Amino acid sequence: MENTALKPQQISKNSPTGSLEAFGLEVGYNRAPVIKDLSFVAEPGLFHTILGPNGSGKSTLLKALTGELSYSGRVTLNGESLSTIRAETLALRRGVLPQHTVLAFPLTVSEVVSLGVLRNDTVGTAKQRRNRIFEALGMVDLEGFEGRQYQSLSGGEQQRVQLARVLCQVWSPIAEDGSRRWLFLDEPVSSLDIKHQIQIMNIAADYARRGGGVLAVMHDLNLTASFADTVMVIRNGELKIMGSVAAVYKDEILSDAYDHDVQVSHVDGRSAPIVLARHG
Ligand SMILES: Nc1ncnc2c1ncn2[C@@H]1O[C@H](COP(=O)(O)OP(=O)(O)OP(=O)(O)O)[C@@H](O)[C@H]1O
Ligand SMILES: [Mg+2]
Repeated sequence: MENTALKPQQISKNSPTGSLEAFGLEVGYNRAPVIKDLSFVAEPGLFHTILGPNGSGKSTLLKALTGELSYSGRVTLNGESLSTIRAETLALRRGVLPQHTVLAFPLTVSEVVSLGVLRNDTVGTAKQRRNRIFEALGMVDLEGFEGRQYQSLSGGEQQRVQLARVLCQVWSPIAEDGSRRWLFLDEPVSSLDIKHQIQIMNIAADYARRGGGVLAVMHDLNLTASFADTVMVIRNGELKIMGSVAAVYKDEILSDAYDHDVQVSHVDGRSAPIVLARHG
């Protein structure tokens, strides 16, 4: 897949395939826009990632795409304008893992995860809901944590609980009516050790392999290279390039994106490139 950042005229008017589309997107916080005239198409069944320096607008973009921040321009999910999808419907079509989650209320781990299934009529009986919570906690390697106080967990454990909650919300990547569900993940592995980083990236990749859409903001360039089907690079609120790892992982592209000298290397027997930041 080569560069898939789209010109506005290439954006389809209707996407029955479950794609996520943005056209002429502008997002800000009552000042100059943070995200400027951004357009792209992302198909489900693929693991899409967003890279870019601190403050470049990645979280702002994700918040607009998930309906959390108002925007100008157009965003469609499954061919339907995001602004016209009811909140309850949207909650069943996409799950969102925010960059930060603050919980000021004393809840147990299973209570936090159950927030993902509370209003989800598709889960069925209370027993089925309980089973899903247990299964989701197992997926993120937190069996036995159900009764623990959320606040008493480590940062990485809390991050995995939040992911379990999101997974419960959009459990099947393909809904019963055939529409695709999406996972939006803002730095899902930022607090995790290497084993759990791989575990969570595998969960996201598997969700895409089973037909769902995944869009994850990432900082770890090597982990991204190993898992991503597409990479978007955001700088100063602009989409610089969107394409495969092979297309985006070039010394000049990444060095320019991060304003730092970066070297992309290829190692025999390893399909993903390795990225080193020069220093000293
Ligand atoms: N609630 C807010 N009010 C005003 N400005 C904000 C707000 N949230 C973010 N910004 C500003 O918008 C810009 C983009 O922020 P954003 O959080 O999208 O960056 P990011 O690319 O996700 O960075 P990071 O990698 O540090 O998470 C920054 O300049 C930030 O200061
Ligand atoms: Mg961010």
